[in-house]
Amino acid sequence: MGIEIRAASSVDRERVVAFLDQQGYPHLIDERDRHFIAEQDGQIVASVRLSSVEPALVLRGMRVRQDCRRQGIGRRLLALVAQEIGREPCYCLPYSWLDSFYGEAGFRPISAAQAPSFLAERHVRYVANGQDVIIMRRP
Ligand SMILES: CC(C)(COP(=O)(O)OP(=O)(O)OC[C@H]1O[C@@H](n2cnc3c(N)ncnc32)[C@H](O)[C@@H]1OP(=O)(O)O)[C@@H](O)C(=O)NCCC(=O)NCCS
Repeated sequence: MGIEIRAASSVDRERVVAFLDQQGYPHLIDERDRHFIAEQDGQIVASVRLSSVEPALVLRGMRVRQDCRRQGIGRRLLALVAQEIGREPCYCLPYSWLDSFYGEAGFRPISAAQAPSFLAERHVRYVANGQDVIIMRRP
């Protein structure tokens, strides 16, 4: 059966949180975050969210279930989110090896000096934690 890519509604929220939990996602999810999901046979197989709780729009928590990776699901999900973002500035802190994955959706690497301070600080924390992450911005 095919994959359905769509914006999640409030009805889906509990399942999205459960999916992220299964994926070992370590961060808190705010009630106001907007989620986007991919579903197969009624099961969530991927999700990502837009957080606007902080002083800028941030793309967070991109996860595709392991057995569904490298099938273009992440690309399709990001394309939908890119439409939703439109021309509003949006940031993300992805792994460095995913620069072309996010680049396809219009994100470009920026320096910490070009990023809002809350994100530059988050970047420092992630790097100190051993994570190889970069800062990207769209458009
Ligand atoms: C990263 C992730 C979201 C990608 O989703 P996906 O559905 O597997 O990606 P797609 O199949 O749409 O890939 C599209 C393109 O992105 C790039 N890409 C995808 N995964 C990649 C990886 N692990 N390393 C480098 N490039 C990658 C490739 O160019 C790929 O095209 P190709 O398969 O023709 O080579 C998914 O692998 C995942 O959930 N990984 C674990 C969690 C994670 O790292 N999340 C991102 C946090 S920043």
